[in-house]
Formats: sequence, structure tokens, C-alpha cells
Amino acid sequence: MLENLQQYQEEVNNFNGGTASEVEEFRIKFLGKKGIINDLFFAFKALPGDQKKAYGQPLNILKKAAEDKVESFQNTQGIDENNASFEDLTRPGYAKSKGSIHPISLVRNEICDIFSKFGFSIAFGPEVEDDWHNFTALNLPKYHPARDMQDTFFLDVSPERLLRTHTSSVQIRHMENAKPPLRFLAPGRVFRNEAISARSHCLFHQVEGLYVDENVSFADLKQTIQYFTESLFGKSKIRMRPSYFPFTEPSAEVDVYWGLETETDYRITKGTGWLEIMGCGMVDPSVLENVGIDSDQYSGFAFGMGIERIAMLLYQIGDIRMFFENDIRFLQQFGAQY
Ligand code: DAH
Repeated sequence: MLENLQQYQEEVNNFNGGTASEVEEFRIKFLGKKGIINDLFFAFKALPGDQKKAYGQPLNILKKAAEDKVESFQNTQGIDENNASFEDLTRPGYAKSKGSIHPISLVRNEICDIFSKFGFSIAFGPEVEDDWHNFTALNLPKYHPARDMQDTFFLDVSPERLLRTHTSSVQIRHMENAKPPLRFLAPGRVFRNEAISARSHCLFHQVEGLYVDENVSFADLKQTIQYFTESLFGKSKIRMRPSYFPFTEPSAEVDVYWGLETETDYRITKGTGWLEIMGCGMVDPSVLENVGIDSDQYSGFAFGMGIERIAMLLYQIGDIRMFFENDIRFLQQFGAQY
């Protein structure tokens, strides 16, 4: 069989396309499971070692040539094989499907848009952080028990280098380099070593918000969050439960009243009607002092939320893994919005 290689190569070279079924016939003849090329490779395998050299290269060339032919003629196929052959340049083109924006980006953009309406700008910081910006300056000194909650990925190069566990680190970077009044959002990726269950994910997204000025109060915080929930979810009833974060004092968790109108509402709110959406609080004066801002003159509020969580609520997505699997059927549901 291998003696005929030359002849097969000529046949492939001379193939000039045709109707869809002719191209398909050619493909099956040469590249099909029981096609010539597979047979040739089979024969090749059985050759004694010293003869392999002579056939290996031409065999690969033949295979590549056949694949190229099929590809080029498949791409120029007409829609109707009877009257539209590859030569018909007047036939209608193929519609190109549009891409869509990932739901995480959609929600991030939406959150940034809402806050930009009242003067919040956007800030970014590095994903590889140091201990100071991710922990110490945020009132989490070494051996602080709250560090354990953050399941940090430390980098091998130095124990001082780590993947940021929250976007709160951007607060510190920004405050170190600018003077109040400050008002910004910091969206970005964060990392936690959470291999507890298949549902937990080591990489997710957060948005941090910070506002520092003279006379910023808890009332300002509450009003800002309320405006936000109204704009994003169309729901303005919120409640703030006392909580603890090292970098804010007092601290709160925000619940939005989702309602109990449908069965889904019951399920996702566990029958309470309330859903937790973010953490927040008044910036701890010692955090301000850590970055050289006079805490007698200035005060501020901060908040942080997980974008996946917000997106799951907004689009009623039941499993966080959907965001990372890149299943086109999932992604296409978010439309071509650009
Ligand atoms: N950094 C917190 C976390 O990752 C989220 C957070 C809570 C940020 C309260 C804040 C805040 O700015 O005030 O869990």
C-alpha cells in the first residue's frame, strides 16, 4: 500500500472541490476512520524500523495536504449544493454570530455605572499584593485571628508576597497616593484557597467602594447603599445588621428585602424575604492613620461585595461554577450588548 503514496499524493493535489457531497466523499475516502490515510498509517506502523524513515515524512505531508484541501473547500461551500458550488462568489455570505459580554463583566459595569453617577471614579490595584496592603494596613496585623478567614495563597518567592484575598487592598494603595476627598470603586479579581467543596471557587470577583471626606457619616453610607440597591435590583428596602470587619468600625452586613412573591423568592431567601448582599462600615480611624490621613479631620465609609453573588441574584443563576465553565450556551444568553 505504501508504494502507492506518490499516486495518492497526486490525487489529493489534483482534487479541486465540487459540491458539498463531493468534498465530503473526498474527506471520507482519505481522512475517514476507514480511509486511505488511516490504512497507510496502519501499514506504516508495521514496517521494520529502518524502513520507517523513508515513509514517515511523505505520509505526514499527504495527510496535511488532504486536511488542507477539505478545509479550504468546506469553507467555500455553497449553501445549496446543487446550484451553488464553491466558485459562486455571488452567493450570500454566512451570518457571523456576535459575541456577548460575560455576565460578570456586565454586572461589574452596571455597578460601576451606578456609582459613577454620584462621583465615584474607578481604581485598580495589583493582584499580587504584599502583606502590608492586603492585611497589616487594614488593621489585620500578623497573628490577627481574622487572617485565618481569608485562606490566603502565599507565593513561593517570599512569604510577604501573596495573591490578594480582597479588593480592600486597593483602598490602602489609593489612600497612600491621594489626599481626601476620595471617592472610588475598585473592581477586580481576588483569590482564596478554598477547596472545601466543589462549589467553592479559588478565584472570584469583588467590588470595593471607599468614600473619605470631612463629616462622612453612617447615614451617608446607608443612603448610598440604598440608592445602589434601588438602581440595581429595583428594591430599596434594606437593613443593616451589626457585623465585624477589622478595617471598619462600626461594621455592618447589608440585606436587601427581596420579597416573598414567588416560589423562587422563598427558596433563595430561605423563607425570610431578605438577602445578604455586602459588607460595609465606617473606615476604622487607625486605617486612616496607617496611610497618613488625619482621622480627626476626616472620616469615611467602605463597602465590599462579591460580583458573582450579585450576578447570581440578578440573573437567577443557581450555581457559581457556571461563570467559569465558559459554556457557550450559558454565555450566549447574555446577548450581544456592546
Ligand atoms: N474585604 C471584605 C471581604 O473580602 C469585604 C468588605 C467588608 C469590604 C466590609 C469592606 C467592608 O470595605 O467595609 O470579605
